[in-house]
Amino acid sequence: MTRLRTDGERYNQVARLLHWLMAALVTGNILGGLLNDSLKDTINLIPLHKSIGLTVLVLTIARIAWRFTWQAPPYPPAMEAWQIMAARGVQAAFYGLMLAMPLTGWVMASAGKYPLTWFGLFDVPKLAVARDSALYLTSRQGHEVLGYLFAALVAVHVAAALRHHLILKDRVLERML
Ligand code: HEM
Ligand code: HEM
Repeated sequence: MTRLRTDGERYNQVARLLHWLMAALVTGNILGGLLNDSLKDTINLIPLHKSIGLTVLVLTIARIAWRFTWQAPPYPPAMEAWQIMAARGVQAAFYGLMLAMPLTGWVMASAGKYPLTWFGLFDVPKLAVARDSALYLTSRQGHEVLGYLFAALVAVHVAAALRHHLILKDRVLERML
């Protein structure tokens, strides 16, 4: 199959749409997850957090399928091989985390007593997980540790994008706008 560079020097439209939509959903969920402890007496963010996270899972599967059909636009010639590898490494980790976070969350929520719904519109099936099982405990720990890793990598990713745009003044960020 030929892999198209669909939009010349930019990421194609679907890739850009999915990137920014999912960047907003993921950032919201990282913040919501981290702030939940301090805000829980004021507002219960968890039902919204779960619905957004399940949305991320579905969108990630679609996004990965779509990713196989095209090639990213070229980098500026001045970029060194290690920088390209670092960028691609972080991005590959993002795809993994965009699957691992919702899946560990789903396992965790399945063992809880609250019903699991998608924005209150329909029930999402609960997986067969007991609260004292190794799967539950690993997922809970994984959700927390990977959540922090995700936040750190987002900071690196955003800093790199801003460095390209504001300091190096090349077209790396514009390719995603
Ligand atoms: C992109 C997807 C997601 C991200 C980035 C994310 C991120 C986080 C973070 C950073 C925390 C705080 C760390 C912790 O206490 O574990 C958290 C907590 C939590 N997440 Fe997620 N999450 C996602 C998806 C989900 C999903 C799909 C569910 C369930 C269906 C879920 C359920 C929970 C629950 C119940 C907590 C509170 C854990 C506790 O404090 O007891 N998350 N999440
Ligand atoms: C949670 C937030 C974010 C996530 C999960 C995320 C995820 C990703 C992923 C997976 C890619 C690779 C696309 C591909 O080739 O398949 C990517 C590329 C890119 N992202 Fe993000 N992103 C986030 C936020 C941002 C923000 C806030 C900016 C800008 C300030 C940004 C700028 C870029 C740029 C410029 C690229 C293209 C980089 C390249 O070609 O190497 N991203 N992002």
